[in-house]
Amino acid sequence: MHILVTGATGTLGRAVVPAFVRTGHEVRAFSRASHPGQDVEWVWGDLAWGKGVHGAVRGVDAIIHLATLARKGHRPDSVDLAGTRWLLDAAGEAGVPHLVYVSIVGADQAATGYLEDKLEAERLVRESGIGWTILRSTTFHQHLEVLLQELAAYPAIPLDRSIPWQPVCTSEVAACLIDLVAAGPERGVIEYGGPEIIGMEEVIRTWLRARHLHRLLLPMRYPGGRWAAQRAGWHVTDATPLGRISWREHLFPEPPEPSDDFAIEHTASPTSPATQPDLDPNSHVYGGDEGYERPTRL
Ligand SMILES: NC(=O)c1ccc[n+]([C@@H]2O[C@H](COP(=O)([O-])OP(=O)(O)OC[C@H]3O[C@@H](n4cnc5c(N)ncnc54)[C@H](OP(=O)(O)O)[C@@H]3O)[C@@H](O)[C@H]2O)c1
Repeated sequence: MHILVTGATGTLGRAVVPAFVRTGHEVRAFSRASHPGQDVEWVWGDLAWGKGVHGAVRGVDAIIHLATLARKGHRPDSVDLAGTRWLLDAAGEAGVPHLVYVSIVGADQAATGYLEDKLEAERLVRESGIGWTILRSTTFHQHLEVLLQELAAYPAIPLDRSIPWQPVCTSEVAACLIDLVAAGPERGVIEYGGPEIIGMEEVIRTWLRARHLHRLLLPMRYPGGRWAAQRAGWHVTDATPLGRISWREHLFPEPPEPSDDFAIEHTASPTSPATQPDLDPNSHVYGGDEGYERPTRL
């Protein structure tokens, strides 16, 4: 299928674009910057102003709409609202059969600020007249790391033990999006979360260990409505299936399994570094064996 991905350069987009390419889809990626690319057709545009949108939606079978700009407060001119409107109008005119919008678990319960924009954008999608699916995800691993990096800027990290998280791996969200596109417009809201609900203390301690950092933890209760919603469990889900990659596995990834080609890759050719230890192991082409390139493992 021919797929348009908005927000293709973002945290989720960077997992979604290669996942769709790997599964044989033609991907058109939308961005405010220009990007070179062989496997992906990059198109320039700015959703906030509707620029480049009509050309971007032309001829696609589905749109994965990830573009967002999280700012404080409810913003009628936000990418999630104004941008979603531009996109839906253009998609409707072009006859695009399916748009998948990615939202956040709890957007319907804790609808304040940015989440108010997400919920309103969900409504625009549902009422657009084009086929739709909404995927509400829990927090991405990388997003949680950014939050922890901010907290770790101080000598002591404030710790609210009553805060639950359900972090999820973006490549698993990407796989879920591939399934949703294959299923076609279901006109349904689907929730997707990480494999476990873990407390803030475990989140912080595991992260500090993984990043070889030492900080004092300062027990306290985080103030404000955003944390009250998190404390109330509005941003976790018991929907199944869940992702499988835990916070710990994200932070301490297993080394990759050797592939079936391992033996072949490591069989020394007559001119390989193994048989000629004096050669520079970092040089890619070894003299005397034309065309021989050092195999590169992913
Ligand atoms: N982060 C989380 O933990 C989380 C959890 C659940 C759901 N979600 C949702 O998942 C989606 C993706 O989130 P993310 O974390 O991957 O976002 P992100 O990393 O902040 O990336 C935002 C993307 O939006 C694009 N964008 C921003 N302004 C734009 C504009 N005016 N026109 C066109 N594109 C624009 C950016 O592209 P360029 O800069 O290249 O233009 C970028 O690719 C969002 O809808 C978010 O609400 C996120």
